[in-house]
Amino acid sequence: MSRQRHTTATTTSHLVCQGDRRSMEMSGALLRPRFLLLLAAVFWVAVLYFRLSVLVRGVAVAPMERTVSFAPGYEGRSDDDDGNIDPCRGRRVYIHDLPPRFNADILSRCGSTDGRWPSMCEQVSNAGLGKPLPELLEGEGEGEAALSGAGGWYATQQFALDAIFHGRMLRYGCLTNDSSEAAAVFVPFYAGFDFARHHWGYDNATRDAASLDLESWLVSRPEWRRAGGRDHFLVAGRTAWDFRRDTCLSPTWGTNLLLLPAAKNMTVLVVESSAPGLGNDMAVPYPTYFHPRTDDDVLRWQKKIKSAERPWLMSFVGAPRPGDPRSIRSQIIAQCGASSACRQLGCAFGASQCHSPGDIMRLFQSSTFCLQPPGDSYTRRSAFDAMVAGCVPVFFHPASAYLQYRWHLPGDHARYSVFIPEDGVRAGNVSIEETLRRIPGTVVRRMQEEVIRLVPRLVYADPRYSLDTVKDAFDVAVEGVIEKVAADMRKVETDRRSSWPDNIWAE
Ligand SMILES: *[C@@H]1O[C@H](CO)[C@@H](O)[C@H](O)[C@H]1NC(C)=O
Ligand SMILES: *[C@@H]1O[C@H](CO)[C@@H](O)[C@H](O)[C@H]1NC(C)=O
Ligand SMILES: *[C@@H]1O[C@H](CO)[C@@H](O)[C@H](O)[C@H]1NC(C)=O
Ligand SMILES: *[C@@H]1O[C@H](CO)[C@@H](O)[C@H](O)[C@H]1NC(C)=O
Repeated sequence: MSRQRHTTATTTSHLVCQGDRRSMEMSGALLRPRFLLLLAAVFWVAVLYFRLSVLVRGVAVAPMERTVSFAPGYEGRSDDDDGNIDPCRGRRVYIHDLPPRFNADILSRCGSTDGRWPSMCEQVSNAGLGKPLPELLEGEGEGEAALSGAGGWYATQQFALDAIFHGRMLRYGCLTNDSSEAAAVFVPFYAGFDFARHHWGYDNATRDAASLDLESWLVSRPEWRRAGGRDHFLVAGRTAWDFRRDTCLSPTWGTNLLLLPAAKNMTVLVVESSAPGLGNDMAVPYPTYFHPRTDDDVLRWQKKIKSAERPWLMSFVGAPRPGDPRSIRSQIIAQCGASSACRQLGCAFGASQCHSPGDIMRLFQSSTFCLQPPGDSYTRRSAFDAMVAGCVPVFFHPASAYLQYRWHLPGDHARYSVFIPEDGVRAGNVSIEETLRRIPGTVVRRMQEEVIRLVPRLVYADPRYSLDTVKDAFDVAVEGVIEKVAADMRKVETDRRSSWPDNIWAE
């Protein structure tokens, strides 16, 4: 039904887009209540965790600071006789040479979709970046920081991370062919694309086939035996909910990848994690439309958004969720519509404004605050588009960002964002505009500076080029993985030691 519409949409022509997801849910009478139950459960886990994280903040080092300060030399000195430091020490990654059925074949068959959903070919083109944005129309500004393919801008699909990350990994500076010296093992399985190709109209067995195949391939490798897969990681560029069918939305949603014993031992990067502490999945940023090729691309862009004029106090891009009583989208849309300081791009059925990357980015660049209420799930790609435009995100639920992306966003969320609890918005007693107007100008400017400072670590560089000194979202993620794997491995070691006495008694 609504799928046809998305074939023509330029940007977020999602493999599964929000409209599809909603109609899928509404087509099964049982689905909606289950989804609500799930939301409620996750909400409470989130609330508990949130409180807890506040409690432990005094002793814990913010993960971001840790990753930023991870530098050559940190691991020790005198790596060779001349006292030179090996910059790759402790950071080497081995890439599993998977058979092409787990990655390349999925891409090359992007067009054979049995007519069940649109071809994925455009989205996976250009190393996963999608189509370059068209060159500028007259009067749209000029220069290399412009929103065009030449400036590094693409109509990137929000679930295209599998391919982008793999491409970046292949150019990682510390690859090794000797798995025994690797700090981590990368598994280039395109789990997100695998979800998409078998989601609509296929049975459970077909959906799970590639995941099971992968599991049996992995566990028979010598690399697996070293630590039962604790040092392995893969990227599944969708939300964790898409890979937990048994525990998730409905018996008709997704694969069971994350519930396989092998996957539970690995670190799995997703764009929205299931719940803190629930699994081994870690959230990393959604891909945005910006894919710089050089350090200069990033610096030029930061300079541009720093001096951007922002005539709108706030803006919103998104569709309402009429079938979901928990959603505050309609309240947001109503408040925005009633304010002369707010601008929105409609993307209800029929309107396609919100699918044009250029329109979205131009709006966010001319707004001080960007409203980011939950949609079908808690997180939104739009939050990253907003920050890349230098717009301060306004969140309404802690799981939309603060409980995710712990490697990429500062632990102190007041530094870069505004939080307005959704209950007040839903009850209609909180004015978003008044809340934002009460924030002093100096505080707003400090938040803007922080958001602009974060931009490099929120974008994925073009995988066909290499940045020089700038660390992008990929670099930050790999550092996070390596630290997490090291911690997991220490735990494996401790567990092994603590089981010695049992072994002795058993003998
Ligand atoms: C690993 O082996 C391949 C094939 O022999 C070679 O092309 C590549 O350069 C090697 N990579 C490293 C990091 O040694
Ligand atoms: C598919 O799996 C789900 C749980 O993962 C189960 O509830 C459902 O009954 C299965 N469908 C079929 C047709 O077996
Ligand atoms: C997962 O790791 C544990 C040790 O932490 C190991 O006992 C188990 O066999 C591993 N699972 C698989 C599927 O290898
Ligand atoms: C607004 O309503 C919510 C829910 O009824 C309530 O928890 C909150 O205290 C109210 N806030 C104000 C400012 O009145």
